[in-house]
Amino acid sequence: MQRLHFGAAWYPEHWPPQRWAEDIRLMKEAHFTVVRLAEFAWSSLEPSEGDFRFDWLEQAIAQLAEAGIWVVLGTPTAAPPAWLVTQYPETLAVDEQGRRVQFGNRCHYCVNAPEMHRAARRIARAMAERFGSHPRVIGWQVDNEYNRVCYCDHCHAQFQAFLQQEYGTLDELNARWTTAYWSQTYSDWKQIPLPIGPHNPGLMLAFRRFVTRSYRNFQRAQLEELRPHLPSSVWVTHNFMNWFGGFDHYELSYDLDLASWDWYVATGHHDHLTSGAAHDLVRGYKRKNFWLIETQPGHVNWSQTNNALNKMEARAMAWHAVAHGADALLYWQWRSALNGQEQYHGTLIDQSGQPRPFYEEAQLIGAEFARVSDLVIGSTVQARTAILNCYESRWAIEFQRHNSAFDYVAYLEHWYRPLSVRNLEIDLLSADEALDGYQLVIAPALIVLDEQRIEHLRAFVQRGGRLVLTLRTGMKDRHNAMLPSRPPGALAELAGVEVEEYYSLQHPIPVGGKLFQGTASLWAERLRLLGQPFTTVMARYGASNGWLDDQPAVVVNPYGSGFVYTVGAWLDERSQDTLVRQILLNTSLKPFETPPAVEVRVRVRPDGRRLYFVINHSRQEQTVTLPWDATDHLTGQSFAPGALTLYPYAVALLTRQEDVSVVG
Ligand code: GLA
Ligand code: ZN
Repeated sequence: MQRLHFGAAWYPEHWPPQRWAEDIRLMKEAHFTVVRLAEFAWSSLEPSEGDFRFDWLEQAIAQLAEAGIWVVLGTPTAAPPAWLVTQYPETLAVDEQGRRVQFGNRCHYCVNAPEMHRAARRIARAMAERFGSHPRVIGWQVDNEYNRVCYCDHCHAQFQAFLQQEYGTLDELNARWTTAYWSQTYSDWKQIPLPIGPHNPGLMLAFRRFVTRSYRNFQRAQLEELRPHLPSSVWVTHNFMNWFGGFDHYELSYDLDLASWDWYVATGHHDHLTSGAAHDLVRGYKRKNFWLIETQPGHVNWSQTNNALNKMEARAMAWHAVAHGADALLYWQWRSALNGQEQYHGTLIDQSGQPRPFYEEAQLIGAEFARVSDLVIGSTVQARTAILNCYESRWAIEFQRHNSAFDYVAYLEHWYRPLSVRNLEIDLLSADEALDGYQLVIAPALIVLDEQRIEHLRAFVQRGGRLVLTLRTGMKDRHNAMLPSRPPGALAELAGVEVEEYYSLQHPIPVGGKLFQGTASLWAERLRLLGQPFTTVMARYGASNGWLDDQPAVVVNPYGSGFVYTVGAWLDERSQDTLVRQILLNTSLKPFETPPAVEVRVRVRPDGRRLYFVINHSRQEQTVTLPWDATDHLTGQSFAPGALTLYPYAVALLTRQEDVSVVG
């Protein structure tokens, strides 16, 4: 069912069936179109091995169907029941210290345990047989927020088998990992440990790949059981967590039809530049629209201070998610259970069964989603700017930060923010993607290179693209070994420079040129020009440690029909902003200037009509300048060109008036 969906996670198994009708009535009044059911309901669905009790779920779906509400079903495998882990103790994961983890806090399973796979397949198959072709079930979610790493003997043996498959011979592995170092040379696969704490960088990177592979296998096992029973219109997703770095999200998304994620602000209030990056990240997993399948109704229960979002803040957040490509928003969760670990979490309905104050805001959002669903659905974000994200590079840096404050995601956001604040649509993409159609590509700290990446980047610049290379680029191969060249490796030809030395900075140092006078902190690289004729130094270091004094810090080099910038220093925010502005001037990308708290994002409909989402993310009134006549589809109001006043947390969904005729 293609529409802009609105709803929540609902756990009917926590309540007597007599109550359900009232819940569904309240859902209807909040304009729900979808609920997510059954993730975590394993003990209610299969109270003992092979004994399936699906009637209650069938009944709940039937009642929802009567109210016209659609259903997403979760496989309940994130909550293996007590009988399962007692009968098959090896389904419980083992932690780094070698202890079996405790039952009852979710995700307590070993992702590779054969009995876990068997049980997961059985429940997924049984659910798919019963509900796979149910006309009200539009999608499935496998498991919930994969996250745990298991260190049991079985996983250990599986890891060794994985390495054997990846490397073929021990000679190859020993060479790639330089195991002669500290006498790590392996003469038997069984000698290779699971890395606990710091270890050989090659081993550590391979282990992350193994964790990715483990979840992929676990997910595939369930997909194999589900898919034969699902009509082609029914999708399968998994709810990912933000910037969680435990596995490669591109690989896990590859086997799914739809990407979705769980957005929690926790303490404080949302920052639209930070959350915008997370939405764009998830949109990049499948390079298409996504579902915001969980988000917080007011407050959470697991943070330091579980403060509530301000009144109307959640509405701004909802439209912000849609503006970045969400086609659905579901709150977690509908009603507070009377017991269980999450009693204090925000919900729409409280423990007494009555709507909480937040319910009213949800009702408003639901009504608005319903009003503009036809206008919005089918539209997509069409970015000409991309930022490359690479889990391998991130892990390689996280294993050896060299400066404890060096954070890969923060550095990526350091590039995202000055672009996003100018209201440019940005794709956050896997570093392995081809780069056709982009004008500007930023590759923050792309430390791990391979032939394909180099070729994509080369082709992009050759065709006229603007490429930004940064510090910590092109130093490693996919085994986390140093390349036997100076950074940025084979990209030096494009960049017109090489890195002579890297410096982890204890204190900020001066850096500047005609464009800006600022500072570098955390990291500075001394660039050496390779003698290409048009390489230009844009900024140099000032007096600092002697080694860096007066050396090139930011350089631009023409290559093919394009340009390559190399930024060797972590610049202060102001200088970074100035540099980004300058880079944009060298493109035809047109920023939409607004006050920093106001966001304008565009989704383009298949008929070419552009939808402008204008959002005031602050508690202060803001003003933006409208360049054209516009209609706000949330209120029906029309605006002439000129100043548009936005009250605190205001949202407008505008189309230009001259476009109206385009649409039937
Ligand atoms: C996660 C889980 C949900 C719930 C929320 C609470 O995202 O997926 O089941 O526990 O956190 O914030
Ligand atoms: Zn295990």
